[in-house]
Amino acid sequence: MKLLHLDSSILGDASVSRQLTREVVEAFRLAESQLEVSYRDLVADVDGHLSGAVLAAKGTPAELRTPEQSRLADKAQAVMAEFLASDVIVIGAPMYNFSIPSQLKAWIDLISVAGVTFRYGANGPEGMVHGKRAVIVATAGGKHAGTPGSAAHIDYLRFLLGFLGIADVSVIAAEGLNMGPAVRDTSLDAARNAIGTLAETTI
Ligand SMILES: Cc1cc2nc3c(=O)[nH]c(=O)nc-3n(C[C@H](O)[C@H](O)[C@H](O)COP(=O)(O)O)c2cc1C
Repeated sequence: MKLLHLDSSILGDASVSRQLTREVVEAFRLAESQLEVSYRDLVADVDGHLSGAVLAAKGTPAELRTPEQSRLADKAQAVMAEFLASDVIVIGAPMYNFSIPSQLKAWIDLISVAGVTFRYGANGPEGMVHGKRAVIVATAGGKHAGTPGSAAHIDYLRFLLGFLGIADVSVIAAEGLNMGPAVRDTSLDAARNAIGTLAETTI
């Protein structure tokens, strides 16, 4: 089984989502001894965003690409291949300004490609990615559950993954992380309990 582990927090060692994604991956590792893990730190990748130059590079036949276009096209291809090869995707998704970090959006822009991961048919859009499972590790400084439009980072990721064909999506949520130690600890305990439950159903 192949697992793709993604982190997108800019907070380095102080990041809660980075800590929790590690714990989720560890839970999968304990349940599946043959687990192969690929790790991508989306923040370390400073030129990860989709741009006109990347689109032009992908649209240029390989033999006509400049060295820079080859680098851009190869990188986009590597991100897609890694995604397609994975059985499980663990996504660290902190809430930044009521959305996901731009680095995570940049990754989504590289793996959402018409004709590869989705297509438009007579009945509308159709996901082309099947047989994968996703775990979203969603963190937030405030408490948002139950307020309208509040879990925008979680809702967007669920929708996007569903659009691509991934219906098996679990969410480990830790909210209120910046609301003082008591709220933070309660929230982290709940997230860790959820990871424990996830581990029981990993395979
Ligand atoms: C740039 C930035 C924007 C943030 N925006 C929000 C926000 O809109 N809502 C919220 O509840 N918390 C917000 N926070 C707080 C983070 O969600 C919180 O610190 C959480 O722990 C982030 O996960 P991480 O520790 O893995 O980075 C923001 C933090 C940063 C650094």
